[in-house]
Amino acid sequence: MQIIRTIKDMQALSRNIRDEHKTIGFVPTMGALHEGHMSLMKRSGDENDFSIVSIFVNPVQFGPNEDFRQYPRDIEGDLNKLSSIKVDIVFFPDDKEMYPDGFSTSVNIGSVGEILCGASRHGHFNGVATVVAKLCNIVMPHNAYFGQKDFQQTVVIKKLIKELNFDIDVIVCPTVREHDGLAMSSRNIYLNHEERKAATVLYRALKLGEDLISSKGLVDALYIKNEMKNLINSGPVSNIDYVEIVTTEHLEKVEKIKSPVAICIAVRIGKTRLIDNIITTGIFPFATDYQT
Ligand code: PAJ
Repeated sequence: MQIIRTIKDMQALSRNIRDEHKTIGFVPTMGALHEGHMSLMKRSGDENDFSIVSIFVNPVQFGPNEDFRQYPRDIEGDLNKLSSIKVDIVFFPDDKEMYPDGFSTSVNIGSVGEILCGASRHGHFNGVATVVAKLCNIVMPHNAYFGQKDFQQTVVIKKLIKELNFDIDVIVCPTVREHDGLAMSSRNIYLNHEERKAATVLYRALKLGEDLISSKGLVDALYIKNEMKNLINSGPVSNIDYVEIVTTEHLEKVEKIKSPVAICIAVRIGKTRLIDNIITTGIFPFATDYQT
């Protein structure tokens, strides 16, 4: 496993790999790796001749009052984990390499980046789109792997790749969860014992929403969201940021559920903001709204 720290070296390596007509799979991360990240890397390793992982805590996707400084960093632990799976190259640049003095370009992804998480994290998705565009130009992958865990991010990235004409396939991988359903996240380590227990409410609320739609056949999104909110609010330390039911392609709010939807939630558990989602196909065309 090679560790590359400069853009010039990374581009030279990728160019060589492509010249040999080998495929490159790419998994961008911010490190503090867990089984969710590893599942993307395993898939990238299986499906490509070369698998490249980036580790870079991207400053431009954090707001001024967010956790950029505290964000967990553990490069030694990360490299140890990576040595147990097929990863050929780790791209690990520093902030100056990615954003030299005077850097001012950014990608504006538009309104899809201003709803859901973007409503409280202003500029976050433009920051994500900017760094992913840069990383794609540096790593030059054929396939790039992202987790469904960050569903809005996958929509933003698909849009970026399509609209800026990157010749890259975006592959979305399922959310990896702890035994009690909590989605794995680098931020879970912020939770104390009580908060960790309370955090299961995200998954329980999503399963409730999924059940109301897929088993009970309910279609009234407002009713379903209220049931979910009631469950979350019954928890000891939870504070809802949003509970939304949206279309899977453009994240438009749904009132009557007629086709597959994403149920997306963001909840503060103590001071830690956690997100999760489930995509449900429902039982269309038989769904009714008789119980709402
Ligand atoms: P990070 O939070 O480190 O996540 C890296 C990738 O791992 C993302 O595609 C994310 O969706 C995926 N992932 C995280 N938790 C997961 C889980 N429990 N199951 C499956 N996949 C999971 O997302 C980012 O970094 C950054 O925004 C980045 C895309 C690297 C741009 O800076």
